[in-house]
Amino acid sequence: MTTTSTPAVPTADWVEPAAMPADPYPTYRRLLDESPVAWVPSLGRYLVTSFAACRAVEEDQETFSANVSGGAATLARALGARPMLRKDDPEHAGERRAVNPVLRPKTLRARWEPVFERNARTHLEVLRQRGPDDADLDRDYAGPVAAQNLIDLLGLKGAGVADMQRWSHAFIAGTGNLHDDPEIWRRCDAARSEVDALLDELVPHYRAHPDGTITSALVHGGLPLPDVAANVKLTISGGMNEPQHVVTGAVWALSRHPDQRDRVLADPALWPAVFEETVRWLSPIGMYPRETTRPVVLQGVPLPAGAPIGVVVAAANRDATVFERPDAFDIARPRQPHLGFGSGVHLCAGHWAARMSVGEIAVPLLHADLPGLRTDPRRPEAWHGWVFRGLTALPVSWDA
Ligand code: HEM
Repeated sequence: MTTTSTPAVPTADWVEPAAMPADPYPTYRRLLDESPVAWVPSLGRYLVTSFAACRAVEEDQETFSANVSGGAATLARALGARPMLRKDDPEHAGERRAVNPVLRPKTLRARWEPVFERNARTHLEVLRQRGPDDADLDRDYAGPVAAQNLIDLLGLKGAGVADMQRWSHAFIAGTGNLHDDPEIWRRCDAARSEVDALLDELVPHYRAHPDGTITSALVHGGLPLPDVAANVKLTISGGMNEPQHVVTGAVWALSRHPDQRDRVLADPALWPAVFEETVRWLSPIGMYPRETTRPVVLQGVPLPAGAPIGVVVAAANRDATVFERPDAFDIARPRQPHLGFGSGVHLCAGHWAARMSVGEIAVPLLHADLPGLRTDPRRPEAWHGWVFRGLTALPVSWDA
């Protein structure tokens, strides 16, 4: 008698979400070693951790849809509508096409490089005024620079750094609000109303006066108003925290590797490598969701239709089959694409903007202007999160 057997689905019942904000990397290491595609009961989803499996998901959006449903649809709930990030092509492509011209390297160089530089210099002064015994790189520099850059790119005239930070944090908290905390939804809904009120003024303005900002481009991209608003809010929630976390992450990493810091100070051509290695090593977006549209076998593991998936790019960026000594921070490692900006059709729309504003400007300027810049062990630093992860406090010092 012959029997056909379906391969078993690996189950990682040992994953403890509560332990991950302290340090998610031991969990990722064990998932990578034991079961790179696994059902994780405590998260109610399949986690995909290997580089090959994450790439396979992104190469097939017909099977692995970004239009997730049920409890995973928090982004659409937070923003009030589905933005491009939760649509598949061709719907997604129509919206993405509208913003791409603003964020291309040539446009960034001509139009935005001076703006990024001005914003970095303005807040460098604030940091310097705080002084080497009191300065916090996140509070005084990384946060405000990232917020102001995004206000300018979006063309949100009238908004200030504190507004942008409040909105972005509220939308991100809403996106992570898997347990429906009413207070988080209240703050999120308030932020949405504020942004909608601002757009009520700005949309007619940009209709009459196009100016090459993201909001203007969306207005002129043929999108209905709710889609313009959803994508402005998507950019508010996705375009601030990550650059902020890479600024602090890069300084933290270089402080722990003074030999590499000396090397880049002696050879500024290495700054882009510092940026890429920081995004790989400390991926600010750790995981994002997808959902299967049909039964499929992924890297030998059978998944049903409608399976909720977590694409764990932070784990894939430490996959030893792709990166030598994956847990080491090494700006001299062979050039190898990482997944910190995602991949496939949803590859981050702002990756060139982040490379320029953070990798070429915000981080090098700090080190050039504050000799001996380093983290300050006298005062505590703080990390937050794993789905979105970064430093929320980073005391720094320098040679005054
Ligand atoms: C180092 C900084 C950044 C990192 C690590 C990052 C990471 C990512 C990742 C992983 C995705 C894909 C998520 C998914 O597929 O679910 C994404 C998408 C996106 N990002 Fe970024 N991002 C950064 C900066 C920015 C900036 C500065 C902007 C805006 C100016 C931006 C705008 C967007 C948009 C609009 C999307 C959606 C793209 C689409 O659906 O086609 N990001 N980002």
